[in-house]
Amino acid sequence: MKIASIVGTRPNFMKIAPLVTEFKRHKIGHVLIHTGQHYDFSMSRLFFEELGLPKPDEHLVCQTGIGVDEQRSFLKKIIKVALERQKPDLVIVVGDVNSTVAGAEAAHELGIKVAHVEAGLRSFDNTMPEEINRIRTDKISDFLFTTEKSANKNLLNEGISRDKIFFVGNVMIDTLLSHRKKAEKSKILGQLKLRKKGYCVLTLHRPSNVDNRKSFENILDILEAIGAKIKIVFPLHPRTKKNLESFGLDKRIRSIDNLIITKPLGYLDFLCLMSGSRFVLTDSGGIQEETTVLGVPCVTLRNNTERPVTISQGTNMVVSTDKAKITRVCQRLIKGDAVKAKIPQFWDGKAAERIFKVLTSKLN
Ligand code: UD1
Repeated sequence: MKIASIVGTRPNFMKIAPLVTEFKRHKIGHVLIHTGQHYDFSMSRLFFEELGLPKPDEHLVCQTGIGVDEQRSFLKKIIKVALERQKPDLVIVVGDVNSTVAGAEAAHELGIKVAHVEAGLRSFDNTMPEEINRIRTDKISDFLFTTEKSANKNLLNEGISRDKIFFVGNVMIDTLLSHRKKAEKSKILGQLKLRKKGYCVLTLHRPSNVDNRKSFENILDILEAIGAKIKIVFPLHPRTKKNLESFGLDKRIRSIDNLIITKPLGYLDFLCLMSGSRFVLTDSGGIQEETTVLGVPCVTLRNNTERPVTISQGTNMVVSTDKAKITRVCQRLIKGDAVKAKIPQFWDGKAAERIFKVLTSKLN
């Protein structure tokens, strides 16, 4: 059996790492295809190094700075060529980015079986490119591996056959648990002159928050209010940086008190930074899950989440981008309000093992 895994963006790398380890442990023929969607050292190669991922067998060059639809079509075309060269029996895609859906559709059109890891999550917000990517990927996948039970329900509601769906847990948490000790050794707190619980962390890259000048200005108002109370560490995503510059808001952001802007951080530094923080402000999907496991409060700057278990059991609070609401929540967290959290089922470091077992029993 030969398996091909397709990755392209930063969060994909954390999700594929434990599966690559599992395939290696069992001596399964495996090739890694990197679509090139993320290409900066700090968004890609650094993660390969820190996570011990092998050099990709196929490293494609993705066109960027084009529309979402154009990027999906372009990616599908180049992935197809790579798959025709590699001839795998099964393709694995992870998450919900353009490389995910392009990989799934390329494989499906070539008659290759598809496994989707992190299937079934739904925000029910079709304006998010990720939601469309999730729905399209799930529709054609032969194996759908879910991280929480709400995802199983969503898939069944969409008419996907029960025998294709497997609740296995969270591969991103496999990676977090296996790198937690190493991350404790990171020097990032010292480098940024931070003390534990004396700061919060911010990440922002969703088009709804950063692609429009008005929304971005609203975020800056929020940062001014929070910066008056606590230090904020903000590793700047390339999309966010580009937009700040094109809106001419870079000068204003740099004048906000207590705001520490950094380049995108590596996995270990960022894990250490999140673990030591008082709370995290984010519009990312994966960070809502990671903070739940770390027991760190997460203030999500969106109107919805596709990961409801992080609210019902974890530390996540979805607060939209309403300035009054966010500052109220942050104030409480700064004062020291605790949030109770439980670790969701199967977020235990063994998701990749469960996926491997399903695949070998079904494919043999
Ligand atoms: C993508 C995913 C998003 C995921 C995020 C994680 C899609 C539709 N979006 O968003 O779901 O949460 O990755 O980071 O797939 N850029 C660089 N250097 C890089 C990478 C990107 O300069 O290494 C630039 C691109 O040229 C582009 C912008 O940043 O102009 C956005 O990149 P893109 O890959 O389109 O989407 P992300 O915002 O990173």
